[in-house]
Amino acid sequence: MAGNRTFTIIKPNAVANNNIGNICAMIEKAGFRIIAMKMTYLSRSDAEKFYYVHKGRFFFRNLYLFMTSGPIVVMVLEKENAVEDFRKLIGSTNPEMAAEGTIRKLYAQSKTRNAIHASDSDENAAWEASFFFSDKEIIDTEYCLPLPED
Ligand code: PPS
Repeated sequence: MAGNRTFTIIKPNAVANNNIGNICAMIEKAGFRIIAMKMTYLSRSDAEKFYYVHKGRFFFRNLYLFMTSGPIVVMVLEKENAVEDFRKLIGSTNPEMAAEGTIRKLYAQSKTRNAIHASDSDENAAWEASFFFSDKEIIDTEYCLPLPED
């Protein structure tokens, strides 16, 4: 059964271009709930760890240099069928190939500066979320305490 969580990074180009809010609005409008969120930086050593599966690929150096070039926003998202639905919402890695209306079509400049990362499996989503967040930082955002006057 498909899981209900995925993990995402708003990449340095989208943060620098002031598109955090636009991207989050698309995410919420598509029915995802943001259940963990923070702005941070990746060190070179963390970028190399996070992207270890691509070590040895021709683009690896480009990838970690870009991902350490500025602040990023990391999030855990909740929705039924989260991994697959979110990959549809962000579009193809190469923005030239991305479908109209996708996040990458709107906010990516190139295969490197492609605005957003998304997990590609439930297993990787869990590992990537735990790379940035403790269990305590992943929150049930539907919960709101009743006030005395309610
Ligand atoms: S693959 O072959 O499907 O595993 O790779 P792909 O999904 O296309 O890309 C994996 C991540 O590598 C980044 N990438 C690049 N970075 C820099 N330069 C080049 N040429 C390049 N090609 C791919 C791409 O943005 C993907 O990053 P994430 O964060 O996973 O989206």
